[in-house]
Parts: sequence; C-alpha cells; structure tokens
Amino acid sequence: MKLGFIGTGTIATSVIEGLLKSKAKIGQINISTRSYKNSIKLRKKSKKIRAYSENQDIINNSSIVFIGLLPKVASKELKTCQFKKSQTIVSFVSTLNIKSLKKLCNPVKKIVKAAPLPMASDGLSPTIIYPNHKLIKSLFELTGSVIVAKNENQNNHLWVMSSFMATYASIINLLKKYLLKNKVNNEDANKYLNIFLTGMLFEFNHQNFDLNKSIKSLQTRGGINEELLKRLQKDKFFKKIDVNLKKIFLRLKKANDK
Ligand SMILES: NC(=O)c1ccc[n+]([C@@H]2O[C@H](COP(=O)([O-])OP(=O)(O)OC[C@H]3O[C@@H](n4cnc5c(N)ncnc54)[C@H](OP(=O)(O)O)[C@@H]3O)[C@@H](O)[C@H]2O)c1
Repeated sequence: MKLGFIGTGTIATSVIEGLLKSKAKIGQINISTRSYKNSIKLRKKSKKIRAYSENQDIINNSSIVFIGLLPKVASKELKTCQFKKSQTIVSFVSTLNIKSLKKLCNPVKKIVKAAPLPMASDGLSPTIIYPNHKLIKSLFELTGSVIVAKNENQNNHLWVMSSFMATYASIINLLKKYLLKNKVNNEDANKYLNIFLTGMLFEFNHQNFDLNKSIKSLQTRGGINEELLKRLQKDKFFKKIDVNLKKIFLRLKKANDK
C-alpha cells in the first residue's frame, strides 16, 4: 500500500507519525517537500517516506491520496491535479462535501471525508469518517478510534466536536495559570492537573458510565463543586458554549451545502 499526502501540515504529519508507530503494512508514504520542517522531520523518522516537490508526483505514486490542505487552497490545487479511477481519496478538508470532491478528483469514485486530530501521532485520535470504507477505517483505527458518520449532516455535527480542542486546552490553561499566579510551582501545577484530568477521563471509559449521575455525585451539598457549577450556570457559561457550537455547525453546513 502506497499512501500520498498533499499538504504535509499539522494534521497530515500527526497521521503519518501515528501510522509509522503502528503496525500498518505500508510500503511507501509520499509527502511534499513543502511544509519544509515537517517534511524533514518525517524523512528522518522512516525510510518509507519519500518527498516530492510536485503534488502530481505524490498522486502518481500513491494508491490512497490524503488531502491535508487548508480549505482556501484545496479546491484551487485539486483542479490542477490528475487522478486515476483506481485511487482512493481521503479528504481532511472540512468545507468540501463528497459531491464537490467527486468533481475535483474525477474520475475517482472512492472518496472519504476524515477528521483525524493531532493526537493521531500518539494513537489517540478519534477520527470521524464518512462514508464508511473498510480499508480507510482500519487505517485510522491504528491511530486511535473511528466513528463512522451516518450521513453528511451527522458528519458535520461530529466535526463540531473537533472545534472544542483549543477551548478545552484554554480551560485547562486557565486552571494552570490560576495555580502559577498563586505561587504553586510549574512542576506541581502540571502534576496536579495531569493526574486530575487523566483520572476524570478514566471514569468515562468505565462501562455504563453515566455523566448525569457523575455530575451529581461530584457535588457535595453546599460544597465548592456545587458552588462553582451553580455560579457558572448563573453566568450562562454552558448556554454560551451550546449556542456557539450551533454556530460552528451552521458554518460547516453552509460550506458543505455549496
Ligand atoms: N488541525 C486539525 O486538528 C484538523 C483536524 C481535522 C481536519 N483538519 C483539516 O485538515 C486540513 C489541514 O489542516 P492543518 O491543521 O494540517 O493545516 P496546516 O498545518 O496549515 O497544513 C496545510 C499544509 O498545506 C501546505 N500547502 C499549502 N499549499 C500547498 C500546495 N499548493 N501544495 C502542497 N502543500 C501545500 C502548507 O505548506 P506551507 O506551510 O509550506 O505553506 C501546510 O503545511 C484543513 O483543511 C483542516 O480544516 C485539521
């Protein structure tokens, strides 16, 4: 199996790193000489990596072609490329629907949208794919787990979740800054937050885990957990997140309805 990546940015690099660490049976991974830092880093990691300056050479030498370009660049670049019917396309681009991809990558019929996350490099990405494709699903399972969307609408709703990454990191950063500001040293702040978050997430993995029950049991009546939650609810913290998730969905829907 020969994989090719057009656009060797953050997400393509994470997927390649994850696949290299996995047991994937890959003969060759073709990448771009562009994205110079990533290209050099990946070439140092494995002899399976070959870099090309032309996207067309990446395509010509790959059976599966991944599109890791930014939305603004993707359509323009794909229009200049020639594909073969036997190839499979996997697009990471949120704003291109399957219909547009089929036009841009004509005569390719096997086209999958996928949303791996940077954690793929550590085998911990939840990857949304649509539509289902046995081989592509098995590849992304090697970089974490796979959620198959039932239709494009559900695909967009699942992609909304990926917009939460920077907000999630910012909330944790706020907790860390609180500790640092109050003279807790960096090592202890990291130690506390790392095991705190890991412990909380570990609970999710328990079978029959019930978030509603957990939220209740985490609040001692009259205690500080109950107080912070009530204060944030009163400030409409959660409502604001919900309202804005809907806006992100509408943005994805608008782009994909074109
Ligand atoms: N990051 C995420 O968590 C994530 C998750 C799911 C999906 N996605 C989607 O994945 C796509 C890539 O995102 P990203 O975060 O990886 O972006 P990125 O880091 O900016 O990567 C895009 C790469 O494309 C390269 N590029 C630009 N024009 C090119 C061309 N004509 N030919 C070849 N390469 C070209 C850029 O190279 P230079 O640096 O040299 O300009 C850059 O390395 C986006 O559509 C994004 O929406 C991202």
